[in-house]
Amino acid sequence: MSLIDDAKAAREKAHAPYSKFKVGAALRVPSGEVFVGCNVENIAYPEGTCAEAGAIAAMVVAGHTEISEITVIADCPEPIPPCGGCRQKIAEFAAGNAKVVLATMDGVTKETTVADLLPGAFSSTHFDKG
Ligand code: THU
Repeated sequence: MSLIDDAKAAREKAHAPYSKFKVGAALRVPSGEVFVGCNVENIAYPEGTCAEAGAIAAMVVAGHTEISEITVIADCPEPIPPCGGCRQKIAEFAAGNAKVVLATMDGVTKETTVADLLPGAFSSTHFDKG
């Protein structure tokens, strides 16, 4: 299965009764293993979590800390742009040149990189005063 198929299958599991906007994410780690996530909303709206966050949590609990590639899919007119918080969450575990594929349910895809998603990212280097 491709990462897009994995993300699509994860999207089907989304708990999105409030926005009705289902999102799926699938990421691959260097070993080749794939981890998926979906958005999980809550009646206390700010408590909801994004699909990317779910996939990242599944990766970390399985003992991995590096994202080689990530795909996000939703039923959008154009490939879904990850929210700002998810861009920072992805950047925590991915090199700048890691591949990001954003997709629609109609088969439109956009390929980009983690660095392009979050230019000027706050990173651990900002802890160093030199
Ligand atoms: N959502 C994601 O899961 N990922 C994103 O990058 C954008 C937004 C979810 C959050 C919420 O459940 C729904 O989409 C509408 O904002």
